[in-house]
Amino acid sequence: MSIHKVAVFGASGNFGTPITAALAAAGFDVTAISRLDSTSVFPPGLRVARVAYTLPDLSQALEGQDAAVCVVGPGGMHLQSTMVDAAAAAGVRRFIVDDFGWGRESRSFPEFGEIHRGRTRGWDRARERADGEGEGGFSWTGISTGNPVDWALRRFPMMGFDVVKREAVIYDSGTEEFSGTTLEGIGQAVVGVLSHPEETRNRFVRVMSVKTCQNELLEAFEGVTGVKWEVRRDTTGRLLESGREKNREGRPGWVLELVVTQLFQEGEGRGLVARTREETDSDLLGVREESVRDVAIKALGL
Ligand SMILES: NC(=O)c1ccc[n+]([C@@H]2O[C@H](COP(=O)([O-])OP(=O)(O)OC[C@H]3O[C@@H](n4cnc5c(N)ncnc54)[C@H](OP(=O)(O)O)[C@@H]3O)[C@@H](O)[C@H]2O)c1
Repeated sequence: MSIHKVAVFGASGNFGTPITAALAAAGFDVTAISRLDSTSVFPPGLRVARVAYTLPDLSQALEGQDAAVCVVGPGGMHLQSTMVDAAAAAGVRRFIVDDFGWGRESRSFPEFGEIHRGRTRGWDRARERADGEGEGGFSWTGISTGNPVDWALRRFPMMGFDVVKREAVIYDSGTEEFSGTTLEGIGQAVVGVLSHPEETRNRFVRVMSVKTCQNELLEAFEGVTGVKWEVRRDTTGRLLESGREKNREGRPGWVLELVVTQLFQEGEGRGLVARTREETDSDLLGVREESVRDVAIKALGL
């Protein structure tokens, strides 16, 4: 199966942007599919189809595409099954489902149950659609990327590093390891899947650019900036309690607190898509290994 024409749902988003850029740079013929009422801005030169997200209109929009990538944000997750049905109806042969997280094996807190089920409904639909289809029929892939590390460090000081103020918060002993994939790696993972359709057929692939912990990141940040960062200590126990309280009381902020707890809670390994790089599909998909220093440089925007 050879894939050339690719439609991307959510092409202007946090991850859709680097994915679309990587696909175009790799020579794929990319079309962004966007909602009729979207206010998203796209790079010049990218073909954009503004479509009502109904089965008939999406099926028509996907006509002639070899593959579709779903990378919409949480607000659009409930539409994933419709996108899958439309892709199957249009003869799309590979649908990349919306994961870019920890896949089916995700050991997230029960508070994320409803959100997780919202994602897996679309994954289940893709699996049902692929059942019974022979070679050349509808197929799917999910890509588990773990923590989007350079983007997340830059965007969320709660991950422990304020890259503007150069201050750190180290949770517990700072030694809990997690795996991360940079925006470059996320883009390459999608390119890799569509370049290796047979090896990635009807399964989740796992990738990582780096495996690290907070203490290593602090050392890298201090090394790159050439100054000692002000360090405060905190515990994931306190963060967990605070996140759960906010969740119970319906207050905002609980998602990030529980996500960070999951990443750093000691001895749990919840933030790892795999124990080692060798257990992942990174080499097959061309997702290169990046050093902790490389990640720090990217997170600092240098
Ligand atoms: N592993 C992690 O820690 C992590 C972190 C962040 C995100 N993620 C995952 O990565 C994926 C993409 O997230 P993202 O942050 O890149 O998304 P995003 O930037 O929030 O949104 C991407 C696009 O989704 C479309 N969209 C938003 N709301 C929609 C709705 N109600 N209906 C239909 N489409 C809608 C929009 O496209 P148009 O305006 O063009 O229609 C938007 O530009 C998600 O699965 C998310 O959960 C994982």
